[in-house]
Amino acid sequence: MIIAQISDTHLALDTPDARQRIDDFERVIADVNALDPAPDIIVHTGDVVQNGLPEEYAEATRILSAARAPVYAMVGNKDNRINFRAAFTPDLYYGSDSEFIEYVVEDHPVRLLMLDTLNHTSNKGEFSPLRARHLLEMIDADNTRPIAVCTHHPPFEVQVGPDPLNFETRQMMNELRTALLHSNHVVAVFSGHVHRGTVGCVEHIPASVMPSVATTLRKGEYPPHLIDCPIYHIHRFDPARGFSTESRIADGYRT
Ligand SMILES: [Fe+2]
Repeated sequence: MIIAQISDTHLALDTPDARQRIDDFERVIADVNALDPAPDIIVHTGDVVQNGLPEEYAEATRILSAARAPVYAMVGNKDNRINFRAAFTPDLYYGSDSEFIEYVVEDHPVRLLMLDTLNHTSNKGEFSPLRARHLLEMIDADNTRPIAVCTHHPPFEVQVGPDPLNFETRQMMNELRTALLHSNHVVAVFSGHVHRGTVGCVEHIPASVMPSVATTLRKGEYPPHLIDCPIYHIHRFDPARGFSTESRIADGYRT
């Protein structure tokens, strides 16, 4: 099973770099489409748009409509649940009465759990007993297959960058970590939010963060010829070895 992960496209229509953000998003989708073998699915781990506006989501879904693989998106702190819900696959969402955008992608060798760590009061992540209950219910719905969990905010201390804690409180992050350790079927965690690539873990579970697709918002040092090249992650699953992750530069060097 091959998963192409994209994240933090921060699509905007009114910023000085709006054209670049659209270009980065389109180049990544074109590159994913050219992969051979092709990915089974594409996941977007949040901050799809910058301001949560319907017209931004319209542009995002226009770009994503070019994707050959099915796309599963989740919310980041910049997203708006109501407008997101109107733009993306509402029939998948867990619990018809849940305010959260959380769901399971089935029909593949690895189950994919998409979590909602959006917090209305800050850019940091939030987790709650209710969300923990939903997560455990989604995990326990099938105990036969491995599970990869996608969270916008990484559930581990990120040692690169200014602030290692990406949740509102350490207790929230630890409650999410405890929930992830509920089942030994959880084999990987894929996140975004930090805008730079890094890795960590939830005890024995490997966890990774991909850089922002939006090159103007990407953190970290890049040589001049890569500054405007978007980067994304490809996660390949092998039943014996688990996931291996590749960072891929979309359509190579720009000359
Ligand atoms: Fe972001």
